[in-house]
Amino acid sequence: VTSGRKSFGSDNHAGAHPAVLAALTIANAGDVPSYGDDPLTARVSTALAESLGTTPDRVYFVFNGTGANVIGLSLMLRPHEAAICPVGSHLDVDECGAAERVLGNKLLTVPAPDGKLTPELVRSRLNGLRDTHHVQPRVVAISQVTEVGTVYTLAELAELRRCCQEHGLLLYLDGARLANAAAALGCSLGAIAAHADVLSFGVTKNGALGAEAVIIMNPEVGEDARFRRKQLMQLGSKMRFIAAQFDAMLSDELWLHNAQHANAMARRLADNVADIPGIRLDQPAAANAVFAELPAELITALRQDWVFHTWDEDRNVVRWMTAFDTTPADVDQFVASIRANASAGVSG
Ligand SMILES: Cc1ncc(COP(=O)(O)O)c(C=O)c1O
Repeated sequence: VTSGRKSFGSDNHAGAHPAVLAALTIANAGDVPSYGDDPLTARVSTALAESLGTTPDRVYFVFNGTGANVIGLSLMLRPHEAAICPVGSHLDVDECGAAERVLGNKLLTVPAPDGKLTPELVRSRLNGLRDTHHVQPRVVAISQVTEVGTVYTLAELAELRRCCQEHGLLLYLDGARLANAAAALGCSLGAIAAHADVLSFGVTKNGALGAEAVIIMNPEVGEDARFRRKQLMQLGSKMRFIAAQFDAMLSDELWLHNAQHANAMARRLADNVADIPGIRLDQPAAANAVFAELPAELITALRQDWVFHTWDEDRNVVRWMTAFDTTPADVDQFVASIRANASAGVSG
């Protein structure tokens, strides 16, 4: 990052979109009521609720994605209940056990090589039902986009939802990259949200500074949500600034343009490295990340000049992630460097 080159490490490495900063400046004028009782929060909650297919009183702005996941799960789980989620999902490995510690609920993990749960995988964890000695599965927790950059089709979501209904389970959807998923599927946010009982929707990674929301789709869930948000330390006093970020992202569908662009940059990267000997895509580059297997020496060489994650040390899989502000020139410069290092490796 310090080299001035674009980071391919994470969409979180990117700054904020100028429209978001402009919206914050506008929201900064004057005094307004705190804790979400301001007119901007009311207006943006209504707009967001409309685009997702719920009501404004079921939209809860929060600071971050981990907090959104903890609150979302808290609305659906009693102490003896558990959430089924993929091994390696953000909830499983990247939230420092927040849900387990703060809520005290068990996560029932299932290996899912492409990051996606299926009805079959869900059913594989439905043992011990009604057995006093076992936690009781109650929630299926998925991410859309998944942790390995794949995207559930709407048909796959519908199938999972059916499976949940069949077994008395609720569906939680972690939408930290919901915009990228909707852009990839060419569908509305609401078309995805419709399959969830509760979801999060994050815009931080898509050009905001720090703005996420917990959204309740099932009216039978989440009666206590406003208390949970406060108790779980996610109620912002100066709420207007979270609302302002969503306002900017919803205006002129900035969320969609940013996500389409980030996805297109990942596609460009994936397509342009496809013919380089020794490189194999580990997952389809469905959204804004490319997961690829490379020779170990090539990873080491690229790391001298570029920022990215080695995703799986044992299998030499890297994650290259693009953002709303990744340019075609950034991608082309990175590809040229990959190509040059790969051919140096081959000839040397
Ligand atoms: C799938 C997913 N969920 C949630 C989050 C949110 O995490 P944070 O608490 O860092 O905002 C992330 C961030 O990387 C993520 O990738």
